[in-house]
Amino acid sequence: MRRSGLLQWCAPGLGAALLWLATGATGAFAQSIAPRLAQCAACHGADGNSQIKDFPSLAGQPRVFLENQLVMIREGMRDIPAMKGSLDGVSDADITALAQHYASLPVKSTSGPQNTAWLERGRQLASDMRCGICHLPNYQGREQMPRLAGQREDYLLHSMRQFRSNQAVGRDTLMAAALYGVSDQDLQAMAHFLARTPP
Ligand code: HEC
Ligand code: HEC
Repeated sequence: MRRSGLLQWCAPGLGAALLWLATGATGAFAQSIAPRLAQCAACHGADGNSQIKDFPSLAGQPRVFLENQLVMIREGMRDIPAMKGSLDGVSDADITALAQHYASLPVKSTSGPQNTAWLERGRQLASDMRCGICHLPNYQGREQMPRLAGQREDYLLHSMRQFRSNQAVGRDTLMAAALYGVSDQDLQAMAHFLARTPP
């Protein structure tokens, strides 16, 4: 009797505590970003995993990477025509909340059937070119370095081509240097491999 009474007393408190932990620091901002999230979902997927060619998934990206990119996009330094106006008037606090939201979502790989020769070629190239020094050896990313593992294959290829041809306006020039002179076939092999690396 006493025990069940105690449980009854504790359970609601525990539930509230867990809810507080789950929503955490974003809880306070959740309301102000809700309408934004609905807009983002049209292109980046309701769960942060994009279903659209050349549009990146945001789920599971490091929070700092997302925060940096959002600021760059809002300030017009990283020019994304599709996102024109999307971040107008978004406060720094809401940028942090958006970044926390997407960083906490699970990655769902959208990659299709694999080609073993390409996969092995991509693995070897990424290892030889030491991409893991910054993106981590398992390509999960950290801080300002994005996750590559499990990202859409078409988006990986699209962004690598942009870096290589120096068209990645407002993006880190380290990446243009890392991909300088790499053949298109090699970029395709790396995109194939990275998209299929477990997130
Ligand atoms: C109309 C489509 C569209 C909408 C709406 C949109 N985005 Fe994007 N977003 C894109 C495209 C396309 C790119 C990639 C552009 C490129 O690099 O070529 C992108 C890139 C990004 C990136 C950089 C990701 C990376 O891996 O480099 C972030 C972060 C981002 N969007 C967040 C958001 C957020 C948050 C919202 C909602 C406030 C939003 N976007 C709304 C189309 C959209
Ligand atoms: C010296 C550190 C460094 C090395 C080495 C490096 N990267 Fe990066 N990479 C970055 C940073 C930082 C970014 C974020 C760029 C930005 O600020 O826009 C990035 C971005 C990317 C992106 C864009 C992802 C997205 O979501 O927008 C791809 C793809 C990528 N790197 C692939 C590679 C590959 C493949 C290699 C190896 C050939 C490599 N990187 C080596 C630091 C590095």
